Amino acid sequence: MEEIKKAAEIIRKGGLVAFPTETVYGLGADALNPRAVARIFEVKNRPRLDPIIVHIADFSEVERLWSYVDERAEKLMEKFWPGPLTLALPKSDIVPDIVTAGLSILAIRMPSHPVALSLIKEAETPIAAPSANLFGYLSPTSAEHVKEQFGNKIELILDGGRCPVGIESTVISLAEKKPLLLRPGGVALEEIENIVGKVEIAPPASARPQSPGQLSRHYSPRTPVKILVGKGEREGKKVGLLVFTPRASGEGEYEVVETLSSKGDLVEAAANLFLCLHRLDRKGLDVIYAEPVPEVGLGRAIMDRLRKAAGTLD
Ligand code: TXA
Ligand code: MG
Repeated sequence: MEEIKKAAEIIRKGGLVAFPTETVYGLGADALNPRAVARIFEVKNRPRLDPIIVHIADFSEVERLWSYVDERAEKLMEKFWPGPLTLALPKSDIVPDIVTAGLSILAIRMPSHPVALSLIKEAETPIAAPSANLFGYLSPTSAEHVKEQFGNKIELILDGGRCPVGIESTVISLAEKKPLLLRPGGVALEEIENIVGKVEIAPPASARPQSPGQLSRHYSPRTPVKILVGKGEREGKKVGLLVFTPRASGEGEYEVVETLSSKGDLVEAAANLFLCLHRLDRKGLDVIYAEPVPEVGLGRAIMDRLRKAAGTLD
């Protein structure tokens, strides 16, 4: 609790704090302080045209941060907040332009992690936070991952252990007639469609100049990643393998094998994805082969991250 008070004080004074959420660790600053938000971009080496999600701990905050709240947003908030769903609607005037990278819509979510909620309440201001990794690199699901990348470049890292969901929030824009999926994530698309009906899938960023946040190579380890088709070329290379479920045989042919789920469960697989990729990335491999997972439920978010890690999304 002392640590959270200290963190809140840093946020109020315009500093940066890394904090755990149920999805991944965030790198937070006071969302209403443009200079503080500017430091997030600097420290992450993030392009200024990539907008940042604002985190809140009180439902009523949406009324002052968005210019209006529609019925679909209300239904989705009621069902999935606090939790791994981010919603975007036109922003209000109090939100600095740097937060939305000049876009007219603002993405907001209410995390369910108790440390994140206490921090936001204690800071008494909404917190702008991207994932706490250098731009383009793997998202952090433990405080160690954040330390490795930012060390003493930020004021404080709150350690809340491992992130239970392990994959970033689902991002939905409600600014148009039809809900639009901007990023698959911790809430399955099927669950969202149960509440608001058909959701459109946003085309890749290259075909969508006004929404620059989703570059085709992202969430990447330093080691090249390839989605495994067939057996994969191994001649003379140090190859690591990422599998969905344990393999009956053939694992001995790889330098190292990481398994996403012992039982073939996509929720467990999502929770382990970045942890396994971080581990593989430390092994000095020439290439990481990733076995595809079924594209249902959280499998959609897992395949999105693997394709982006491999740079083959577009
Ligand atoms: O689970 C999460 O969402 C984590 C935790 C820390 O909350 N945050 C996170 O933030 O993943 P970040 O910045 O790494 O990814 C946010 C994504 C980016 O693809 C960004 O372009 C998109 O959301 N985004 C944010 N604000 C947006 C906006 N106003 N309009 C369109 N896309 C937006
Ligand atoms: Mg990120």
